[in-house]
Amino acid sequence: MDEVRVMIVDDDKSTREIVSMFLSHKKYKVFQAFDGQDALEKINLTDPQLVITDLMMPRMNGLEFIKRLKAMRPEIVVLAYSAFANFEMTADLLKAGAFFYMAKPFELSVLELQVSRGIEHYSLQSSAFNAVPHINNQSYFQNMIGHSKKMLAIFELIEKVADSDATVLIQGESGTGKELVARAIHDLSKRKNKNFVPINSAAIPDELLESELFGHMKGSFTGAIANRLGRFELADGGSIFLDEIGEMKIRLQAKLLRVLQTRELEPVGSHQLKKIDVRIIAATNQNLERLVAAKEFREDLYYRLSVIPIVIPPLRERREDIPVFISRFIEKFNLACKKKIKGIDSPAMDMLCSYDWPGNVRELENLVECLVVLKGSGIISRNDLPEKFQNMKTLVKNEDLTLPENGLCLNSAVSEFEDRLIMQALEKSAGNKKEAAILLNLKRTTLLEKLKKKNLAGKLSVSALSA
Ligand SMILES: Nc1ncnc2c1ncn2[C@@H]1O[C@H](COP(=O)(O)OP(=O)(O)OP(=O)(O)O)[C@@H](O)[C@H]1O
Ligand SMILES: [Mg+2]
Repeated sequence: MDEVRVMIVDDDKSTREIVSMFLSHKKYKVFQAFDGQDALEKINLTDPQLVITDLMMPRMNGLEFIKRLKAMRPEIVVLAYSAFANFEMTADLLKAGAFFYMAKPFELSVLELQVSRGIEHYSLQSSAFNAVPHINNQSYFQNMIGHSKKMLAIFELIEKVADSDATVLIQGESGTGKELVARAIHDLSKRKNKNFVPINSAAIPDELLESELFGHMKGSFTGAIANRLGRFELADGGSIFLDEIGEMKIRLQAKLLRVLQTRELEPVGSHQLKKIDVRIIAATNQNLERLVAAKEFREDLYYRLSVIPIVIPPLRERREDIPVFISRFIEKFNLACKKKIKGIDSPAMDMLCSYDWPGNVRELENLVECLVVLKGSGIISRNDLPEKFQNMKTLVKNEDLTLPENGLCLNSAVSEFEDRLIMQALEKSAGNKKEAAILLNLKRTTLLEKLKKKNLAGKLSVSALSA
């Protein structure tokens, strides 16, 4: 390893500086963070192989920090220390993924020994997946991955809007990462130290949703045995994430609209208005404009919610992100399941890159987990993929028009080639069929006929359809 990077996380400046000086002397490149939050913000930029952290820190305790760090970057080795530890705490730490725990005060020679053991462990585990392409730091944004133009534009937008209090509406198919985007907005905002409270309108029965959102007073309905705070109040000072907003019934939409307008709410059974200070982030996988047209969603609420619209493209419209996701997920599940998959060969990678992923990133993540667990070690190849991939005849690539070893079905290959070019033209023209027809040197009517015959219109994304 050319350069060993270590980060020390402690709110106590003098400990931070002593450790830092000592390790720099031993030729480590040392970075400092004054607490867990600060460390998470610096992690992708500094890219340490090892993190040393105190457990008692303001804003975010050490255990929570380790969990979040490991979720983001499971390969980083963590050494934790504290003056107040007991057996259960040590067990929790190890469960959260810490490599070693030291009681404070500790000798610097003990620290040095554990750092060098930790680095050795890092090298061993990373040699287990050397063949997995390295993901460069620019492909990470908060807890998200992506380096396609479309995702980079979304990351930029998130950064721009995070600090304002403007309401955000995130739209995208299921599994595209809407919740991750909502969390990234909260984590980058000035509200990050307050709660991020998600609530899913589809998962809560209609009759309970109002009380879940706004709270209720004792005795306001059967079963209301005590006053209860709603999610809006739990999110006070922070952000509320109204997931699957398209599922909310019209009656409740009216109440929500009033809260959005007045920033005041009335718990069920109370006549007292309460002021709230909450940033609202909503999400849906439905086309809200269509619901508005069908009178199933209030138009005024739609406009209130979509002050800043963010449309996450489906995975098939950002295929260049697929290899990055695959690498990251192999790494993640190798560590989580103690497996040693070294990588994936090109025929298998090609197949995964040409598949349409109706379940988007979630479907890809689940598939990689399944492949890592079932195969356990070695390199994932075409034969390891589930049957639906085996039957795909997708081996025609623009730049590689060679006949595959086992031959192919010419008619399906040609038809699939045609589909892909049509979809690409539609993506390029943002769904504008006239422009797409020009790109393909076809008459518009011929393109429309083909779309109908091949049933391709259903595969277009929310963004392309609404364009
Ligand atoms: N850019 C990304 N980087 C890393 N992981 C991602 C990304 N996008 C999605 N995922 C992963 O895919 C899964 C689905 O993401 P998420 O729950 O945010 O999607 P969603 O759009 O809210 O889906 P749904 O509409 O079904 O609720 C999660 O496991 C998430 O970690
Ligand atoms: Mg979701």
